[in-house]
Amino acid sequence: MGNTSQTSIDQRFTGKVALVTGGGSGIGRAAALAYARQGAKVAVAGRTLEKLQETVNLIRDTGGMAIAVVADVSVAAEAEAMVKRTSSAFDGLDIVFNNAGTEGAFAPITELTENDFDHVIGINLKGVWLCIKYAAQAMTRNGGGVIVNTSSWLADTAVSGSSAYAASKGGLLAMTRALAVELGPLGIRVNTILPGIIATPMFERLGGNDALADTFAATTPLRRVGQPADVGDVAVWLSSDEARFVTGQNLLVDGGYTVVGI
Ligand SMILES: NC(=O)c1ccc[n+]([C@@H]2O[C@H](COP(=O)([O-])OP(=O)(O)OC[C@H]3O[C@@H](n4cnc5c(N)ncnc54)[C@H](O)[C@@H]3O)[C@@H](O)[C@H]2O)c1
Repeated sequence: MGNTSQTSIDQRFTGKVALVTGGGSGIGRAAALAYARQGAKVAVAGRTLEKLQETVNLIRDTGGMAIAVVADVSVAAEAEAMVKRTSSAFDGLDIVFNNAGTEGAFAPITELTENDFDHVIGINLKGVWLCIKYAAQAMTRNGGGVIVNTSSWLADTAVSGSSAYAASKGGLLAMTRALAVELGPLGIRVNTILPGIIATPMFERLGGNDALADTFAATTPLRRVGQPADVGDVAVWLSSDEARFVTGQNLLVDGGYTVVGI
C-alpha cells in the first residue's frame, strides 16, 4: 500500500510537459530534476547549451525525458521560439517555471547606470512577461496550465544597493496577481516563489561562501541557508494538482529568514 501511494505521488506529472528557464544551474536545475522525477517531460531552457545539456543528461540518466532549448528569455523572438520548440517537441505545454534571472549590478543608485537597470529589468521582469505571453497562448490552446515564477526575498525585504534587482523582482509580485486574475478564467494558475538565501552559483557570485552561509544560518529560524531543491520542490508542489486552488500567490521560501523581528 505504501508503494502504491508512493508511485502515484512520484508520477503526478505523467504525460505533462514542463518548461524550466535557467535550467542549467542552481534552482532551475534542481527543479528540472524534480519535475522529471515526477514523470514530466522537461524542456531545460537557458543561454548556455553545455550547462543545459548537463541537466538533460542528469535527467536522462535516471530514465526521464528532457531536451535542451537555448534561449535568452529577454529577447521576444527567442522566448517565443523556446515555447514553440517545447510544445512541438513534446506535443503540448502544461507547466512553465520562469526561473531564469540575473543579480545584475549591486551598487548605490548614484553609481548604477541606465544600462545596469535595463539589463536586470530586461531579464528578470520583461523576460518573465515575455515567457508568460507566449506560454499562455500555448496553454490556452491546451485548455489550461500552470505558471510559477521566481522572485526573491529582496522583493519583500530591502538591502542597500539592490534597487534595480529589487525593482525587477518586486514587479513580478504585482504581475503575478494581475495575471492570476486575467488567466484564471482560462484555466491557467500563476504563482511566484520568493526564495531566501539559497546556495547556488548566484549566491557565490554575490560573495557567498561557507562562512557567509553560517552567518545567515545563525539568524534564520530553520538555522541553515536553502538548497536549490528546497525551492525546486515548492515549484513542483505549486505546479501540481495538490495546489489546484492556489493562484495569484507570492510565497516566501526562506527558512523563515524574513519573518524575524528583534
Ligand atoms: N540564490 C539565491 O540566493 C536566490 C535568492 C532569491 C532569488 N533567486 C533567484 O533564483 C533564480 C535562479 O537563480 P540561482 O540562484 O539558481 O542562480 P543561477 O545563476 O545558478 O541561475 C540563474 C540561471 O538563469 C540563467 N539566465 C540568466 N539570464 C538569462 C537569460 N537572459 N535567458 C535565459 N537564461 C538566463 C543563467 O544562465 C542561470 O542558469 C533567479 O531568478 C534568481 O534571481 C536566487
